[in-house]
Amino acid sequence: MAREFTRVGVVGLGTMGAGIVEVFARNGVDVTAVEISEAALERGRVTLTGSTDRAVAKGKLAEAERDALLARVDFRVGLDALHDVDLVIEAVPEHLDLKQRIFAELDRVCKPEAILATNTSSLSVTEISVATTRPNQVIGIHFFNPAPVMKLVEVVRTVVTSADVVADVEALCERLGKVDVTISDRAGFIANALLFGYLNHAVGMFEARYATREDIDAAMKLGCGLPMGPLALMDLIGLDTAYEILDTMYRRGGRDRRHAPAPLLKQMVTAGLLGRKSGRGFYTYERPGSPKVVPDEYTPPAGDAALADGARAIAKVGVVGSGTMATGIIEVFAKAGYEVISVTRGAEKSAKVCEAVKTSLNKGVVRGKLSETDRDAALGRITWSATLDHLADVDLVVEAVIEELSVKKALFASLDEICKPGVVLATTTSSLPVIDVAMATQRPADVIGLHFFNPAPIMPLVEIVRTIRTSAETSATARAVCATLGKTGVVCGDRSGFIVNALLFPYLNDAVRMLEASYSTADDIDYAMKLGCGYPMGPFELLDVVGLDVSLAIQRELYLELREPGFAPAPLLEHLVTAGYLGRKSGRGFRDHTRR
Ligand SMILES: NC(=O)c1ccc[n+]([C@@H]2O[C@H](COP(=O)([O-])OP(=O)(O)OC[C@H]3O[C@@H](n4cnc5c(N)ncnc54)[C@H](O)[C@@H]3O)[C@@H](O)[C@H]2O)c1
Repeated sequence: MAREFTRVGVVGLGTMGAGIVEVFARNGVDVTAVEISEAALERGRVTLTGSTDRAVAKGKLAEAERDALLARVDFRVGLDALHDVDLVIEAVPEHLDLKQRIFAELDRVCKPEAILATNTSSLSVTEISVATTRPNQVIGIHFFNPAPVMKLVEVVRTVVTSADVVADVEALCERLGKVDVTISDRAGFIANALLFGYLNHAVGMFEARYATREDIDAAMKLGCGLPMGPLALMDLIGLDTAYEILDTMYRRGGRDRRHAPAPLLKQMVTAGLLGRKSGRGFYTYERPGSPKVVPDEYTPPAGDAALADGARAIAKVGVVGSGTMATGIIEVFAKAGYEVISVTRGAEKSAKVCEAVKTSLNKGVVRGKLSETDRDAALGRITWSATLDHLADVDLVVEAVIEELSVKKALFASLDEICKPGVVLATTTSSLPVIDVAMATQRPADVIGLHFFNPAPIMPLVEIVRTIRTSAETSATARAVCATLGKTGVVCGDRSGFIVNALLFPYLNDAVRMLEASYSTADDIDYAMKLGCGYPMGPFELLDVVGLDVSLAIQRELYLELREPGFAPAPLLEHLVTAGYLGRKSGRGFRDHTRR
């Protein structure tokens, strides 16, 4: 017979605890909610009522339901109140000694048959369990932030957790409307093991002034469809909690330098900048606990005027290339009202690109996103050519030819001879150093990277890559152009992977390593990232879409440039590529796509 969970206890009503109380009370379970002091208890109560009031305001919860929910919660100071609960979930700060002390005390206070669970993100559940006389009844129940919203729960089974305890907790998760993945006790479990290296890397980028906080966050939201950027997520998690998680993962997870907390984090925690909960972290919030960001001294000035400061006027744009990216970029510029000269390597290629642009514009018309007049006007703005000489009087050239340095360098040398002074020369390279192509010209100050994402007409992001020789005027021009295209331009330095690929691919590579180590399955890892972190696709789904060969090439570049041991491509990824399993395009990658 499965255990009945009629009353549960939650210890610690901070960021996570208050949310966990809400999850139980919403699902008809009585809760004893425990804090260390009256003041902390009151803060927890305010968090819970704030959250349920917001749910009522949004029409997600009826007032009567809210009242019933709140009536199920008994707020108490001190662990003694937990003598009659069937299950306790501990959500106090991420310190092993504190958790061990609490578990020893819970063991003394709680009924012999009660299950004792920790919500730890990175500490060893096994080490916590041995502080009790019932380690077989100790388990990890790792909720995600915000607990009432995120669907995933990681159930962490130690080597001594009883099978019936695991089964009962899994059944309970289902009753709470959650999806659980059950895994063994390893630092960071699935989601945090994949998430925190990425978050720490983003903090490192910000710390090195590689890009602004707004640009790092916008890049990951718009380039990867993530629900929030990494720095905003750090603020939500809490910088003190994030610091402890990273520190524990570093020590438990093989001293991977990528988990050594960025020095800035420690400084911010010491300075009391803990994120949303203290009203200030990477961003400034309306008040402590508020999700609303307010402007501060680092907020960039709003509006196009600021963008255009020092920008050159651009009316005529040359696009060189005939592939997927060039085709999309021609369409983007023509639709935005620019006069476009497309240069390919021959009339046949031009005809193909022209056809592709027409097809894409027609799709826009069919979908009601573009009028026939606007389509015809866009097409009318494009001139088709096979001669670079036609670019003599354009204001901007966007190069999107094959990803080979020698080809790009030769092209830029020719453009240098042909184009008028004052032209901005842009490359769409996604992996080559922009400075290499810039130095093929006599005017490196006018050269910049404009990294569009595929498909260019749809993806809202452009990475604007400044080399150490790019002039402020050229950068301002690139930013102004992106704004007129309706794209968000994020400015970054000229380093392998720019922002998005540098943050994305090591995470994908880590997922492959996790699979390779047989810690979990591709399905569970995909679930964990989608349901725990709100990612639009799991890492294996995404790898199959992007192509394993492309992913491997990017990961190799990152490894070669940054020499970070943790960036070494996962052997499994190399083997799959060697075997011809390249993802959807070859019918098989991590999954078999021929049978679906
Ligand atoms: N923040 C996240 O995004 C997140 C997500 C999943 C899991 N976790 C884990 O959840 C746990 C709690 O993290 P948090 O971010 O909610 O921390 P927090 O600092 O926001 O809250 C911790 C709460 O515990 C209380 N507390 C401290 N000592 C106590 C005691 N002896 N008895 C009762 N209450 C006590 C504090 O007063 C505070 O309210 C950690 O193990 C963390 O790793 C955090």
